[in-house]
Amino acid sequence: MVHYFTDNWEKVKNFQARPDDILIATYPKAGTTWVSYILDLLYFGNDQEHQTSQPIYMRVPFLESFFKVIPSGTEMADNLPTSPRLIKTHLPVQLVPKSFWEQNSKIVYVARNAKDNAVSYFHFDRMNMVQPEPGNWNTFLQKFMEGKNVFGPWYDHVNGWWEKKQTYSNLLYLFYEDLVEDTGREVEHLCSFLGLSTSIEEREKITKGVQFDAMKQNKMTNYSTIPVMDFKISPFMRKGKVGDWKNHFTVAQNEQFDEVYKQKMKNTTVKFRTEI
Ligand code: PPS
Repeated sequence: MVHYFTDNWEKVKNFQARPDDILIATYPKAGTTWVSYILDLLYFGNDQEHQTSQPIYMRVPFLESFFKVIPSGTEMADNLPTSPRLIKTHLPVQLVPKSFWEQNSKIVYVARNAKDNAVSYFHFDRMNMVQPEPGNWNTFLQKFMEGKNVFGPWYDHVNGWWEKKQTYSNLLYLFYEDLVEDTGREVEHLCSFLGLSTSIEEREKITKGVQFDAMKQNKMTNYSTIPVMDFKISPFMRKGKVGDWKNHFTVAQNEQFDEVYKQKMKNTTVKFRTEI
C-alpha cells in the first residue's frame, strides 16, 4: 500500500528551499487553496499562459504529497520554473524541512476555527478517495477531538505554528474567518508582509477573482480536474462559510467539543472566531 505522505519522506526532509520561496502552511481544509490562489495572482496574475495552462495544485505543489496520479510534491517543486516558488504544506511546524528555516523563507500560515475546520475535513474525507473513510459525522468528530486525522491533531498544529510566529519573523499567521470577513483587507495585509506594491486596482481585481463563487466556477481552482475526488459526494468548493458547524453539531456534541477544546487550548493565546 502506498502511504501518500510518508513514502517520499526522505526527499521531503531533505528538500532544498530557497530564500525567495513562499511556503503556504495550513492544517487541511483551513483555506490553503484560497491563499494559494491569492498569492499566485499577486505574483503571476498577468501571465495568461501561467494562469490557464495548469490547475492551482500544479502551480503551487503540495510538498509532502506522493499521489500516483500526478508527480510527487518535491518533484513538482524542484521543477517549478517560477520565481518565487509558491509551495503548499500541511506539515505540523516541527516537521517542516529545515532548509526553509535556514533560508529564512517567507511562510504564510492560515488557520481556521476548529468547528468549521472539522466539518470541512469530514466532507473532504467523504469525497476524496485517497483519504481515510470518515464514518458518520459523530465518529469523525470523536476522531477529530482525539487528533486521529491525517496530519494529526488540529490543536497541536495551530498552536505549534502560533508558537513559531513568536520567534520567526518571516511568518504571517492569517485566519480564514478574517479572509471571509474582508478579503480585500487580508490581500492588503499579504502585500505588506510580502513587500509587494500591488496597485489598489490590481488588488481589487484579485479580491474579486478569489471570491468563493468565482473560484468554484474556475476549473483551474475548483479541483474538478483531479481524478481522486468525487464531486457527486461533495464538491471541493463546498460552502466557504464561517459557522456551517451549526448545521452539523448537535447540542451534546457542541458541549463535549467545547470541553475538549478548553483543555487542549488552555496554554495558548491564539483566539479563534466560530462566527463573524
Ligand atoms: S485542502 O484540501 O486542505 O487544500 O483544502 P483547503 O483549500 O485548505 O480548504 C478548503 C476549504 O476552503 C474553502 N474555500 C473558500 N472559502 C471561501 N472563499 C474562497 N474563495 C474559498 N476557497 C476555498 C472551501 O470551500 C473549503 O471549505 P468548506 O467549508 O468545505 O466549503
